[in-house]
Amino acid sequence: MVAQASTETLARAVLAGSQAVHTARAPTTPAMPSLAWRLKDQEIADALTYVRGSWGNAAPAVSSDDVAAVREELQ
Ligand code: HEM
Repeated sequence: MVAQASTETLARAVLAGSQAVHTARAPTTPAMPSLAWRLKDQEIADALTYVRGSWGNAAPAVSSDDVAAVREELQ
């Protein structure tokens, strides 16, 4: 997911957060908080660009416009 061509899912995870399902063996659902209220489009783009270019990843940068488009969709 981190290095895929479309950055929509990635931006969505940071903007809207995400919650896994709970199962009998893992009853406490792990969740990622929504960060839309806390981070600007450029800050999210910078963090995602960093992740996409580190630890051997070589995916293209994310722009603040990419993040803005997903933020708009989520409203
Ligand atoms: C800008 C900072 C962050 C970025 C870029 C980021 C990125 C991501 C991404 C891409 C996923 C989805 C992974 C996948 O499904 O393959 C994810 C899941 C998750 N994140 Fe974050 N995250 C950030 C901050 C945080 C913070 C602050 C927390 C906790 C306080 C957190 C907790 C989690 C958890 C628990 C999941 C798994 C949720 C699930 O299984 O549905 N993340 N994160």
